[in-house]
Amino acid sequence: MAQLWGGRFTKETDRKVYDFNASINFDRRLLDVDIEGSKAHTAMLAHTGIITDEECRLITEGLEGILSDVKNGKLEITSEYEDVHSFVEANVIKRIGDAGKKLHTGRSRNDQVALDMKLYTRSDIDEMKNKVRMVLDVLLKVIEDNTQTIMPGFTHLQKAQPVTLSHHFAAYFEMFKRDYDRLLCIRERMNYCPLGAGALAGTTYPLDRDMTARMLGFTAPTANSMDSVSDRDYLIEYLSALSIIMMHLSRFCEEIIIWNSNEYRFVNIDDSFATGSSIMPQKKNPDIAELTRGKCGRVYGDLMALLTVMKGLPLAYNKDMQEDKEAAFDAMDTAGSCLELFAGMIASMTFNDDIMRESAAKGFTNATDAADYLVGKGVPFRDAHGIIGQIVIYCDNNLKSIEDCTLDELKSISAYFDEDIYEFISLKTCVDKRLTKGAPAQAAMEEFIAEAKDFLSKIS
Ligand code: ARG
Repeated sequence: MAQLWGGRFTKETDRKVYDFNASINFDRRLLDVDIEGSKAHTAMLAHTGIITDEECRLITEGLEGILSDVKNGKLEITSEYEDVHSFVEANVIKRIGDAGKKLHTGRSRNDQVALDMKLYTRSDIDEMKNKVRMVLDVLLKVIEDNTQTIMPGFTHLQKAQPVTLSHHFAAYFEMFKRDYDRLLCIRERMNYCPLGAGALAGTTYPLDRDMTARMLGFTAPTANSMDSVSDRDYLIEYLSALSIIMMHLSRFCEEIIIWNSNEYRFVNIDDSFATGSSIMPQKKNPDIAELTRGKCGRVYGDLMALLTVMKGLPLAYNKDMQEDKEAAFDAMDTAGSCLELFAGMIASMTFNDDIMRESAAKGFTNATDAADYLVGKGVPFRDAHGIIGQIVIYCDNNLKSIEDCTLDELKSISAYFDEDIYEFISLKTCVDKRLTKGAPAQAAMEEFIAEAKDFLSKIS
């Protein structure tokens, strides 16, 4: 048990207390950022004359040595240390002796851990942005390739009106585009450096907080030292953004599960992204989509855990806040791997265009257009709606679609029908006429694609 704070204690910590209190088993992943932060702090201590240049050189070498020894397996992070910060400091002292004892001058683990979490989160946001971008690229490819692939659009999971696969995917493109924007905003808002806030009240040393903020890539130092050490808003915002990403993935996965079912067969999940059954030889299951849908709950749980940890905490640092890590890391790992796997699943998936078109042709997806046809012939919309309703009953009873009816059959219900009805309600016409911005017609989708490409070119 290697502790930094033994001075005022006369008894050994109870082993169970020590283990309960320790965070080394999960905060060891902060090693890189802890060392990065410590190097900046050390350089600033030398710059302001708080330590000598020689001490700075020794400490920096010690920090770099620890990092490379851990990376190449020469040094192990063990649970002998309470947390990653203790591990680093103890090992600096072990390596370079007395100069190492000056590393923590003008610093507390409270501002140190606040900095570490921010550095870690910031680089995770950058990786997450790339993963969202990967999904956007994969979606755009499907969108570009399928502007003519007609499928039924649904409301209440009932066939509603014909759309295209391109249009359907474009809806998700918009969702992930907003997710990307959200990540950008969070990154910008969180990018203020807490280092130098000390335990809660700043320090009496003449620290140059601007210098460390600059060195570590922050916009500026934080403005209030108490807030600096107790702010976890950015983690809550990030986990909210990840929850929304997971919700989008989960909705999409639900559709893929439905589309991949024997009843729909709209898509084929590639063998490399599907799994089998140990008993039923015929099975090819959409496990990746199902797991993603399931893991959405995990990320919501992580967000809820963090919100609940923070609720009611008095200023400033409280040990409760150590609980931020497992939830945050779990959400980051989960969302990151779900995005990656999702992109791979979509990129390797194939689409059964004929089955989708066939499905759109059944289920009266052109009923609205048939009513609009009558409106064009002078029938008020509400009456037209009623007439087509009667035709739907007739077709249902006779197991056919509206376009399968002869003109005589149609005329027997309304005299307004003419030969041009068939062209008017063909699926192609139904889609082609939906030209308003954001609608599925080819020209509208081309405009969408141009805007999507423009967006992607600006974020790369
Ligand atoms: N392991 C701690 C955490 O994750 C580091 C900060 C400890 N500070 C303290 N005053 N006990 O929050």
